[in-house]
Amino acid sequence: MRDAAPKTIYLADYTPYPWTVESVDLHFTLDPHATRVRSVLRLVPNPAHDQEHPDSMFLHGEQVKLIQARIDGIPCDPVVTDEGLTVGVPDGPFTWESEVEIDPANNTALEGLYMSNGMYCTQCEAEGFRKITFYPDRPDVMSVFTVTIDGPHPVLLSNGNPVKTGENHAEWHDPWPKPAYLFALVAGDLVSHHDTFTTMNGRGVDLNLYVRPGDQGKCAFGMQALKASMTWDEQVYGREYDLDLFNIVAVDDFNMGAMENKGLNIFNSSAVLASPETSTDMNFERIEAIIAHEYFHNWTGNRITCRDWFQLCLKEGLTVYRDSQFTSDMRSAPVKRISDVIDLRARQFPEDQGPLAHPVRPESFQEINNFYTATVYEKGAEVIGMLKTLVGDDAYHKAVELYFDRHDGQACTIEDWLAVFAETTGRDLTQFKRWYSQAGTPRLSVEESFELDTLTLTFTQHTPPSAATPAPQPQLIPIALGLIYPDGREALATQVLEMTKETQSFRFTGLEDQPVASILRGFSAPVVLKHDLSQADRRLLLTQDTDPFNRWEAGNMLGREAMLAMICEGAAADPAFLTAIKDIAMDETLDPAFRALMIGWPGAAELATVLHEAGTTPDPEALYNAGEQMRDAMAETFGDAAADLYARYSVKHPYQPNADQSGKRALTNAMLAFISHHSGTATAQEQFDTADNMTQQISALGQILRHGDAGPALAAFYDQWREDRLVMDKWFGLQVSAAKPQDAAATAQRLTEHPDFNHKNPNRFRAVFGSLTAHHAGFHHASGAAYTLLADWLITLDPLNPQTTARMCSAFQTWKRYGADRQAKILAEIDRILAAPNLSRDTTEMLTRIKGA
Ligand code: BES
Ligand code: ZN
Repeated sequence: MRDAAPKTIYLADYTPYPWTVESVDLHFTLDPHATRVRSVLRLVPNPAHDQEHPDSMFLHGEQVKLIQARIDGIPCDPVVTDEGLTVGVPDGPFTWESEVEIDPANNTALEGLYMSNGMYCTQCEAEGFRKITFYPDRPDVMSVFTVTIDGPHPVLLSNGNPVKTGENHAEWHDPWPKPAYLFALVAGDLVSHHDTFTTMNGRGVDLNLYVRPGDQGKCAFGMQALKASMTWDEQVYGREYDLDLFNIVAVDDFNMGAMENKGLNIFNSSAVLASPETSTDMNFERIEAIIAHEYFHNWTGNRITCRDWFQLCLKEGLTVYRDSQFTSDMRSAPVKRISDVIDLRARQFPEDQGPLAHPVRPESFQEINNFYTATVYEKGAEVIGMLKTLVGDDAYHKAVELYFDRHDGQACTIEDWLAVFAETTGRDLTQFKRWYSQAGTPRLSVEESFELDTLTLTFTQHTPPSAATPAPQPQLIPIALGLIYPDGREALATQVLEMTKETQSFRFTGLEDQPVASILRGFSAPVVLKHDLSQADRRLLLTQDTDPFNRWEAGNMLGREAMLAMICEGAAADPAFLTAIKDIAMDETLDPAFRALMIGWPGAAELATVLHEAGTTPDPEALYNAGEQMRDAMAETFGDAAADLYARYSVKHPYQPNADQSGKRALTNAMLAFISHHSGTATAQEQFDTADNMTQQISALGQILRHGDAGPALAAFYDQWREDRLVMDKWFGLQVSAAKPQDAAATAQRLTEHPDFNHKNPNRFRAVFGSLTAHHAGFHHASGAAYTLLADWLITLDPLNPQTTARMCSAFQTWKRYGADRQAKILAEIDRILAAPNLSRDTTEMLTRIKGA
């Protein structure tokens, strides 16, 4: 068992490992309960290690049984603990050999070597390799791996290029030095969807997507996305693939979405398998993005990796930024930007506002798995975007080019990353670096004054202090701005202001008339903007702004104000907002996908964040009721126009998951909601019965669930799809999402008793409990039933899968926003979980941080 007192790791304590590992040879003899792993490491004193050279070596190792060990061929006797081993070593270079035994069939944590549906697979990031063998399991120890696999399986895979392949025995060699977290092994009865790619320098690459027999029909889209990603990285970043082979494997049991192991990406089957009948438009878009993301890691993550896990945003923030650029290029850039900001506000802002707030580059952690957060990923990507905005496209690409040239093959830091920008541009990035070191979302407010022909904008920034950053300093905020005259003409095209001080004024002269300021175009910085505008000004931006993001934002703000008036003052839904949205929805000159995004209003989670920020306690029931009232009013406002739009934009062509068609489906399904609300479920039933694709089928089912007798449709759906795991996840999730608040917990509870519920499968567990925690009014129902149900299941899951348990704990992170009753109920559940025997380090750390000091 672990030490009672958890250890905290600090960025400031970094020291290089005393040795470099020149080469690693691994030999696996696979067996479900007794896999043997032999390893041979060639170790050489590390010149970068400047302290006195130790005469003993520490290797990480957890849940591995040491069978035998040798140093330079002579048996040795290491001291083994729960965390690894220590062994006396000679001066100078030496060879370490070991043989260990592990139990993949009992590995329910899905970290290290484990089994999923009879197939072996691995997940090593961040610290899973130590569950496979004894090793210096840290990202700055990079080595060349050779892997031999013996096992009774037709497909035996590892990283790099095959040396020998065949049934029951295979050898692999990866010429590119890599940290252990990028190691991968897969073995099983798999079939491959094969293709080829020719790189920009004419090198042929074999591409395989390995899946379980029966899933071959769901591979074509993923393969297309992979080839598109390879082409894009060549064209946009000049990055070419560097092995003869690129393999992707789909596994059903996986904690995350996907993993970028060198030459052998491993994917949650939900993140790669797709077909029109079983996947929604949103699934297709997500799959395309994840495939790109993991592929792009080959350069930003693998060729250049992280020195230590504090630098995680070096690879993740940058790679998220790159995959968002890719999606913008493949689909609609404005729609992608708006979706990303919605996501940032829904997931990252609450994190930054609550007890889990941490900088993009944290300074300490207990369990690194708890730091794969929206802050590291999404805010990390925003920081890259700001850097690009500040230096411009050309300098951005020059700097990144220098980064690749200079640091190829190295394990790097944020300092290395910023240095290439400072050198390329001659800029001092000291202040900019605060985006990496300070927690919290800056609040940016603006005051306007207009005299004669001059507009003065005075900005003030303030970042609320947090435990992680008690005394925040002013940030360098790029503010993209434009000015619009009341008649709709542009008074000033986009320019980027650089705000560096706490308060700062900018003047614009020579204006014909007082313009409306369009501030933070494209959401040029991850801040909370407070800009008091009249309704008329917001409507002007909504209809006339040249920046699509700020058009959407103006509508979003109108919707927010309308909702707040309903919640706080009992107002009716604002007719001006309703007609403004209807006008946009009817505007034939606009992209249907953009119009679909505009037809909405802020959800409960966003409103709760806004209310909390304003010092008001959100009442989940009131938020829910306001949403229902708004839906009513919107359906009323659309009236017959809903059916018109529904008919006009119905896609008659064979299904394609492209941006054009999916935008039209998003628009018609938004209309279907109004039609169902207004006139019952006949249209939805018709769509359900005739759908030839999952987007149409599931959105119809959602309306039938909300507005009609769901029984027969749910049963029909179940009968049709009971054999398809990924579709069944939707069936589980939708029932919880569509439940009335007072029924949400009971629905989830009932689903956990369904024979197809399996808490050991993260996708199925998340289908039920991720949907429950996302159902704001359901999760926070005054009874506290959902809190109790979630706590029960977290206690059940923790001993089996700490990582997925800990991630789900973040549902409690907002507890301090709510009233005393709810706070007490949540705290009681947190304490009940914390009292569970042998609670994992992952879950303990999350809940302790959430509780706060
Ligand atoms: N490197 C991560 C996967 C990972 C995360 C492994 C945490 C172990 C612990 C991978 O590149 C990743 O970021 N995956 C994301 C999807 C991506 C599109 C943001 C995921 O799995 O959610
Ligand atoms: Zn990643």
